[in-house]
Amino acid sequence: MAQKMSDYYKANPDLRIAVFAGKGGLGKTTCSAALSDWLAREGRRALCFSTDPQASLSDIFEKDIFGKGRQELVDQLYVMEIDADKRIAAFQQEVRQKILDMYGIKEIPKEIDEYITAAAAEPAMHESATYDAMAGLLASQEYDFYVFDMPPFGHGIRMVSMARILDMWIDKMEETRLKAQEYGDTAYQLQQKGAGAGQDEMLRELQEIREKLGFFQDILTDSKRTAFYMVVAPEKMAILDTERALDMFRRMDITLTGVIVNQVYPRELLKRKDLSQFMRDRIEMQQKYMIEIEKKLGDYVCAVIPMFDREPKGLKMITKVADIMMNWSGKIVED
Ligand SMILES: Nc1ncnc2c1ncn2[C@@H]1O[C@H](COP(=O)(O)OP(=O)(O)O)[C@@H](O)[C@H]1O
Ligand SMILES: [Mg+2]
Repeated sequence: MAQKMSDYYKANPDLRIAVFAGKGGLGKTTCSAALSDWLAREGRRALCFSTDPQASLSDIFEKDIFGKGRQELVDQLYVMEIDADKRIAAFQQEVRQKILDMYGIKEIPKEIDEYITAAAAEPAMHESATYDAMAGLLASQEYDFYVFDMPPFGHGIRMVSMARILDMWIDKMEETRLKAQEYGDTAYQLQQKGAGAGQDEMLRELQEIREKLGFFQDILTDSKRTAFYMVVAPEKMAILDTERALDMFRRMDITLTGVIVNQVYPRELLKRKDLSQFMRDRIEMQQKYMIEIEKKLGDYVCAVIPMFDREPKGLKMITKVADIMMNWSGKIVED
Protein backbone atom coordinates (compact mmCIF):
# COMPACT_ATOMS: atom_id res chain seq x y z
CA MET A 1 0.00 0.00 0.00
CA ALA A 2 1.29 3.44 -0.87
CA GLN A 3 1.93 6.17 1.69
CA LYS A 4 -0.86 8.43 2.92
CA MET A 5 -1.25 11.13 0.27
CA SER A 6 -0.79 14.12 2.58
CA ASP A 7 2.40 12.53 3.97
CA TYR A 8 3.67 11.93 0.45
CA TYR A 9 3.34 15.64 -0.36
CA LYS A 10 5.00 16.65 2.89
CA ALA A 11 7.87 14.21 2.31
CA ASN A 12 8.36 15.37 -1.30
CA PRO A 13 8.46 19.16 -1.29
CA ASP A 14 9.90 19.23 -4.83
CA LEU A 15 6.67 17.93 -6.30
CA ARG A 16 5.18 20.52 -8.60
CA ILE A 17 2.89 18.53 -10.86
CA ALA A 18 0.20 15.92 -10.47
CA VAL A 19 -1.32 14.10 -13.42
CA PHE A 20 -4.60 12.19 -13.26
CA ALA A 21 -5.06 9.67 -16.02
CA GLY A 22 -7.39 6.82 -16.86
CA LYS A 23 -10.84 5.92 -18.11
CA GLY A 24 -13.57 8.54 -17.88
CA GLY A 25 -16.45 8.57 -15.43
CA LEU A 26 -14.64 7.23 -12.39
CA GLY A 27 -13.63 10.47 -10.72
CA LYS A 28 -10.53 11.94 -12.37
CA THR A 29 -11.90 15.46 -12.45
CA THR A 30 -13.32 15.17 -8.94
CA CYS A 31 -9.98 13.97 -7.55
CA SER A 32 -8.03 16.62 -9.50
CA ALA A 33 -10.27 19.30 -8.03
CA ALA A 34 -9.90 17.79 -4.54
CA LEU A 35 -6.10 17.68 -4.70
CA SER A 36 -5.95 21.27 -5.98
CA ASP A 37 -8.23 22.40 -3.18
CA TRP A 38 -6.06 20.66 -0.58
CA LEU A 39 -2.84 22.14 -1.99
CA ALA A 40 -4.36 25.63 -1.97
CA ARG A 41 -5.38 25.17 1.65
CA GLU A 42 -1.80 24.13 2.38
CA GLY A 43 -0.81 27.56 1.09
CA ARG A 44 0.39 26.64 -2.37
CA ARG A 45 -0.66 28.55 -5.43
CA ALA A 46 -2.37 25.71 -7.27
CA LEU A 47 -3.72 25.48 -10.79
CA CYS A 48 -6.22 22.80 -11.72
CA PHE A 49 -6.18 22.28 -15.48
CA SER A 50 -8.71 20.34 -17.53
CA THR A 51 -9.69 20.02 -21.17
CA ASP A 52 -12.80 17.94 -20.98
CA PRO A 53 -15.92 19.99 -21.71
CA GLN A 54 -18.14 17.21 -20.33
CA ALA A 55 -18.49 16.34 -16.66
CA SER A 56 -16.09 19.14 -16.09
CA LEU A 57 -14.57 21.51 -13.59
CA SER A 58 -17.35 23.93 -14.53
CA ASP A 59 -19.89 21.41 -13.17
CA ILE A 60 -17.86 20.51 -10.13
CA PHE A 61 -17.17 24.06 -9.05
CA GLU A 62 -20.56 25.26 -10.28
CA LYS A 63 -19.00 28.04 -12.31
CA ASP A 64 -18.69 28.58 -16.07
CA ILE A 65 -14.99 28.02 -16.69
CA PHE A 66 -14.76 26.33 -20.10
CA GLY A 67 -12.69 28.27 -22.64
CA LYS A 68 -12.61 31.32 -20.38
CA GLY A 69 -8.95 31.28 -19.41
CA ARG A 70 -7.71 31.10 -15.88
CA GLN A 71 -10.15 31.79 -13.02
CA GLU A 72 -9.44 32.25 -9.34
CA LEU A 73 -11.93 30.30 -7.24
CA VAL A 74 -10.70 31.06 -3.76
CA ASP A 75 -7.40 32.23 -2.36
CA GLN A 76 -4.53 30.32 -4.04
CA LEU A 77 -6.89 28.05 -6.01
CA TYR A 78 -7.00 28.61 -9.75
CA VAL A 79 -8.85 26.63 -12.38
CA MET A 80 -8.61 26.51 -16.13
CA GLU A 81 -10.45 24.50 -18.73
CA ILE A 82 -9.16 24.91 -22.26
CA ASP A 83 -11.15 24.62 -25.45
CA ALA A 84 -8.84 22.40 -27.52
CA ASP A 85 -10.98 22.67 -30.69
CA LYS A 86 -10.73 26.43 -30.62
CA ARG A 87 -6.97 26.20 -30.21
CA ILE A 88 -6.67 23.85 -33.17
CA ALA A 89 -8.76 26.16 -35.34
CA ALA A 90 -6.54 29.07 -34.33
CA PHE A 91 -3.41 27.07 -35.06
CA GLN A 92 -4.76 26.10 -38.51
CA GLN A 93 -5.54 29.71 -39.25
CA GLU A 94 -2.07 30.74 -38.16
CA VAL A 95 -0.46 28.16 -40.46
CA ARG A 96 -2.63 29.31 -43.38
CA GLN A 97 -1.77 32.95 -42.78
CA LYS A 98 1.93 32.16 -42.56
CA ILE A 99 1.83 30.32 -45.89
CA LEU A 100 -0.06 33.20 -47.52
CA ASP A 101 2.43 35.76 -46.18
CA MET A 102 5.48 33.70 -46.96
CA TYR A 103 4.57 33.10 -50.60
CA GLY A 104 2.76 36.37 -51.12
CA ILE A 105 -0.39 34.69 -52.44
CA LYS A 106 -4.08 35.40 -51.90
CA GLU A 107 -5.37 31.85 -51.65
CA ILE A 108 -4.05 28.60 -50.25
CA PRO A 109 -3.70 25.97 -53.03
CA LYS A 110 -6.38 23.30 -52.67
CA GLU A 111 -3.94 20.48 -52.07
CA ILE A 112 -2.22 22.27 -49.20
CA ASP A 113 -5.50 23.37 -47.68
CA GLU A 114 -6.80 19.82 -47.75
CA TYR A 115 -3.66 18.73 -46.02
CA ILE A 116 -4.03 21.30 -43.24
CA THR A 117 -7.69 20.36 -42.75
CA ALA A 118 -6.93 16.63 -42.64
CA ALA A 119 -4.14 17.14 -40.17
CA ALA A 120 -6.42 19.14 -37.86
CA ALA A 121 -9.00 16.35 -37.81
CA GLU A 122 -6.45 13.90 -36.38
CA PRO A 123 -7.12 13.01 -32.75
CA ALA A 124 -3.39 13.45 -32.27
CA MET A 125 -3.86 17.12 -33.12
CA HIS A 126 -6.36 17.47 -30.27
CA GLU A 127 -3.87 15.93 -27.90
CA SER A 128 -1.09 18.06 -29.26
CA ALA A 129 -3.11 21.22 -28.59
CA THR A 130 -3.71 20.01 -25.03
CA TYR A 131 -0.08 19.22 -24.34
CA ASP A 132 0.98 22.42 -25.97
CA ALA A 133 -1.24 24.38 -23.59
CA MET A 134 0.10 22.39 -20.65
CA ALA A 135 3.72 22.93 -21.65
CA GLY A 136 3.03 26.66 -22.00
CA LEU A 137 1.57 26.80 -18.49
CA LEU A 138 4.49 24.90 -17.01
CA ALA A 139 6.99 27.13 -18.75
CA SER A 140 5.26 30.21 -17.30
CA GLN A 141 6.12 29.00 -13.76
CA GLU A 142 3.28 31.08 -12.46
CA TYR A 143 2.05 28.49 -9.99
CA ASP A 144 3.56 26.46 -7.17
CA PHE A 145 1.63 23.41 -8.25
CA TYR A 146 -0.07 22.17 -11.41
CA VAL A 147 -2.79 19.52 -11.33
CA PHE A 148 -3.54 18.11 -14.77
CA ASP A 149 -6.84 16.34 -15.25
CA MET A 150 -6.14 14.37 -18.43
CA PRO A 151 -8.81 13.53 -20.97
CA PRO A 152 -9.55 9.80 -21.24
CA PHE A 153 -7.90 9.27 -24.65
CA GLY A 154 -4.85 7.05 -24.67
CA HIS A 155 -4.62 7.34 -20.87
CA GLY A 156 -3.51 10.90 -21.44
CA ILE A 157 0.07 9.91 -22.01
CA ARG A 158 0.18 9.57 -25.74
CA MET A 159 2.31 12.68 -25.83
CA VAL A 160 5.20 10.42 -25.00
CA SER A 161 4.86 9.12 -28.53
CA MET A 162 3.63 12.43 -29.94
CA ALA A 163 7.15 13.65 -30.60
CA ARG A 164 7.53 10.67 -32.91
CA ILE A 165 4.23 11.34 -34.67
CA LEU A 166 5.36 14.90 -35.30
CA ASP A 167 8.66 13.62 -36.69
CA MET A 168 6.68 11.60 -39.19
CA TRP A 169 4.55 14.59 -40.06
CA ILE A 170 7.60 16.76 -40.63
CA ASP A 171 9.14 14.05 -42.85
CA LYS A 172 5.89 13.82 -44.79
CA MET A 173 5.88 17.54 -45.40
CA GLU A 174 9.41 17.50 -46.66
CA GLU A 175 8.53 14.63 -48.95
CA THR A 176 5.57 16.59 -50.31
CA ARG A 177 7.86 19.50 -51.08
CA LEU A 178 10.26 17.29 -52.98
CA LYS A 179 7.46 15.76 -55.00
CA ALA A 180 6.14 19.19 -55.83
CA GLN A 181 9.54 20.14 -57.16
CA GLU A 182 9.66 17.05 -59.37
CA TYR A 183 6.29 17.71 -60.93
CA GLY A 184 6.75 21.42 -61.21
CA ASP A 185 3.23 22.12 -60.01
CA THR A 186 1.80 25.17 -58.26
CA ALA A 187 3.28 24.15 -54.99
CA TYR A 188 6.69 24.06 -56.60
CA GLN A 189 6.32 27.57 -57.91
CA LEU A 190 5.24 28.63 -54.45
CA GLN A 191 8.34 27.03 -53.06
CA GLN A 192 10.46 28.96 -55.53
CA LYS A 193 8.93 32.24 -54.47
CA GLY A 194 9.42 31.42 -50.83
CA ALA A 195 12.86 29.87 -51.19
CA GLY A 196 14.57 33.06 -50.08
CA ALA A 197 12.62 33.01 -46.85
CA GLY A 198 14.88 30.25 -45.64
CA GLN A 199 13.50 27.47 -43.59
CA ASP A 200 9.85 26.72 -44.12
CA GLU A 201 7.86 28.56 -41.48
CA MET A 202 5.42 25.74 -40.96
CA LEU A 203 8.16 23.21 -40.42
CA ARG A 204 9.70 25.48 -37.86
CA GLU A 205 6.35 25.75 -36.14
CA LEU A 206 6.08 21.97 -35.95
CA GLN A 207 9.61 21.61 -34.70
CA GLU A 208 8.77 24.04 -31.93
CA ILE A 209 5.79 21.94 -30.88
CA ARG A 210 7.97 18.86 -30.95
CA GLU A 211 10.43 20.55 -28.61
CA LYS A 212 7.67 21.45 -26.19
CA LEU A 213 6.46 17.87 -26.22
CA GLY A 214 9.96 16.66 -25.48
CA PHE A 215 10.07 19.03 -22.52
CA PHE A 216 6.76 17.66 -21.35
CA GLN A 217 7.93 14.09 -21.73
CA ASP A 218 10.95 14.84 -19.51
CA ILE A 219 8.69 16.20 -16.81
CA LEU A 220 6.34 13.25 -16.93
CA THR A 221 9.10 10.74 -16.39
CA ASP A 222 10.61 12.72 -13.49
CA SER A 223 8.99 11.24 -10.37
CA LYS A 224 10.68 13.79 -8.10
CA ARG A 225 8.70 16.59 -9.65
CA THR A 226 5.65 14.77 -10.94
CA ALA A 227 3.08 12.57 -9.22
CA PHE A 228 1.12 10.33 -11.55
CA TYR A 229 -2.28 8.97 -10.47
CA MET A 230 -4.94 6.73 -11.82
CA VAL A 231 -8.48 6.62 -10.52
CA VAL A 232 -10.17 3.24 -10.46
CA ALA A 233 -13.53 1.95 -9.22
CA PRO A 234 -14.42 -1.55 -8.05
CA GLU A 235 -15.61 -2.61 -11.50
CA LYS A 236 -14.22 -5.13 -13.95
CA MET A 237 -13.54 -2.78 -16.86
CA ALA A 238 -11.94 -0.12 -14.69
CA ILE A 239 -9.54 -2.65 -13.16
CA LEU A 240 -8.64 -4.06 -16.57
CA ASP A 241 -8.04 -0.59 -17.94
CA THR A 242 -5.76 0.31 -15.04
CA GLU A 243 -3.75 -2.89 -15.42
CA ARG A 244 -3.26 -2.20 -19.10
CA ALA A 245 -2.21 1.37 -18.37
CA LEU A 246 0.29 0.15 -15.78
CA ASP A 247 1.91 -2.04 -18.42
CA MET A 248 2.10 0.89 -20.80
CA PHE A 249 3.58 3.19 -18.14
CA ARG A 250 6.29 0.66 -17.37
CA ARG A 251 7.26 0.56 -21.01
CA MET A 252 7.38 4.36 -21.12
CA ASP A 253 9.41 4.75 -17.92
CA ILE A 254 6.58 6.52 -16.15
CA THR A 255 6.33 5.69 -12.44
CA LEU A 256 2.79 5.41 -11.18
CA THR A 257 2.60 7.25 -7.85
CA GLY A 258 -0.74 5.97 -6.75
CA VAL A 259 -4.12 4.48 -7.52
CA ILE A 260 -7.18 6.09 -5.99
CA VAL A 261 -10.15 3.78 -5.58
CA ASN A 262 -13.30 5.83 -5.89
CA GLN A 263 -17.05 5.28 -5.63
CA VAL A 264 -16.83 2.48 -3.09
CA TYR A 265 -20.06 1.71 -1.23
CA PRO A 266 -19.28 1.67 2.49
CA ARG A 267 -19.43 -1.87 3.79
CA GLU A 268 -21.16 -0.80 7.02
CA LEU A 269 -24.25 -0.35 4.89
CA LEU A 270 -24.59 -4.13 4.95
CA LYS A 271 -25.47 -3.91 8.64
CA ARG A 272 -28.55 -1.89 7.90
CA LYS A 273 -31.75 -3.88 8.19
CA ASP A 274 -33.60 -1.68 5.71
CA LEU A 275 -31.02 -2.24 2.94
CA SER A 276 -32.57 -3.62 -0.23
CA GLN A 277 -31.37 -6.88 -1.76
CA PHE A 278 -30.36 -4.90 -4.81
CA MET A 279 -27.99 -2.71 -2.82
CA ARG A 280 -26.74 -5.72 -0.87
CA ASP A 281 -25.81 -7.45 -4.14
CA ARG A 282 -24.06 -4.39 -5.47
CA ILE A 283 -22.01 -3.95 -2.31
CA GLU A 284 -21.04 -7.64 -2.33
CA MET A 285 -20.03 -7.36 -5.97
CA GLN A 286 -17.87 -4.31 -5.22
CA GLN A 287 -16.21 -6.14 -2.32
CA LYS A 288 -15.28 -8.94 -4.71
CA TYR A 289 -13.57 -6.38 -6.94
CA MET A 290 -11.90 -4.71 -3.94
CA ILE A 291 -10.20 -8.05 -3.25
CA GLU A 292 -9.05 -8.09 -6.86
CA ILE A 293 -7.80 -4.51 -6.60
CA GLU A 294 -5.86 -5.36 -3.45
CA LYS A 295 -4.27 -8.33 -5.21
CA LYS A 296 -3.43 -6.61 -8.49
CA LEU A 297 -2.93 -2.95 -7.57
CA GLY A 298 -2.58 -3.08 -3.78
CA ASP A 299 0.95 -1.67 -3.74
CA TYR A 300 -0.25 1.46 -5.50
CA VAL A 301 -3.50 2.17 -3.66
CA CYS A 302 -3.09 5.46 -1.81
CA ALA A 303 -6.72 6.32 -1.10
CA VAL A 304 -10.18 4.81 -1.03
CA ILE A 305 -13.06 7.24 -1.42
CA PRO A 306 -16.62 6.20 -0.60
CA MET A 307 -19.59 6.52 -2.89
CA PHE A 308 -21.50 9.56 -1.68
CA ASP A 309 -25.27 9.85 -1.66
CA ARG A 310 -24.96 12.66 -4.20
CA GLU A 311 -22.42 13.91 -6.73
CA PRO A 312 -19.65 15.82 -5.00
CA LYS A 313 -20.22 19.35 -6.31
CA GLY A 314 -19.31 22.72 -4.92
CA LEU A 315 -16.24 23.76 -2.99
CA LYS A 316 -17.53 22.45 0.34
CA MET A 317 -18.10 18.93 -0.97
CA ILE A 318 -14.76 18.95 -2.82
CA THR A 319 -13.00 19.91 0.41
CA LYS A 320 -14.70 16.94 2.07
CA VAL A 321 -13.51 14.60 -0.71
CA ALA A 322 -10.02 16.09 -0.42
CA ASP A 323 -9.82 15.48 3.33
CA ILE A 324 -10.86 11.86 2.88
CA MET A 325 -8.52 11.31 -0.07
CA MET A 326 -5.44 12.96 1.44
CA ASN A 327 -5.79 11.29 4.84
CA TRP A 328 -6.86 7.78 3.97
CA SER A 329 -4.76 5.06 5.53
CA GLY A 330 -7.14 2.20 6.11
CA LYS A 331 -7.46 -1.23 4.61
CA ILE A 332 -8.46 -1.80 1.01
CA VAL A 333 -10.58 -4.76 2.01
CA GLU A 334 -12.27 -4.23 5.36
CA ASP A 335 -12.56 -7.19 7.72
N1 LIG B 1 -17.23 9.30 -4.66
C1 LIG B 1 -18.24 9.67 -5.45
N2 LIG B 1 -19.51 9.51 -5.03
C2 LIG B 1 -20.55 9.89 -5.82
N3 LIG B 1 -20.41 10.41 -7.04
C3 LIG B 1 -19.16 10.59 -7.52
C4 LIG B 1 -18.01 10.24 -6.76
N4 LIG B 1 -16.91 10.54 -7.49
C5 LIG B 1 -17.34 11.05 -8.64
N5 LIG B 1 -18.69 11.09 -8.68
C6 LIG B 1 -19.54 11.54 -9.79
O1 LIG B 1 -19.29 10.67 -10.89
C7 LIG B 1 -19.27 11.38 -12.11
C8 LIG B 1 -17.89 11.20 -12.78
O2 LIG B 1 -16.89 11.83 -12.00
P1 LIG B 1 -15.76 12.74 -12.68
O3 LIG B 1 -14.89 13.25 -11.61
O4 LIG B 1 -16.39 13.73 -13.59
O5 LIG B 1 -15.02 11.60 -13.50
P2 LIG B 1 -14.04 11.68 -14.77
O6 LIG B 1 -13.40 13.01 -14.75
O7 LIG B 1 -13.08 10.55 -14.52
O8 LIG B 1 -14.89 11.43 -15.97
C9 LIG B 1 -19.55 12.82 -11.77
O9 LIG B 1 -20.90 13.06 -11.94
C10 LIG B 1 -19.16 12.92 -10.30
O10 LIG B 1 -19.86 13.93 -9.64
MG1 LIG C 1 -13.45 14.44 -16.26
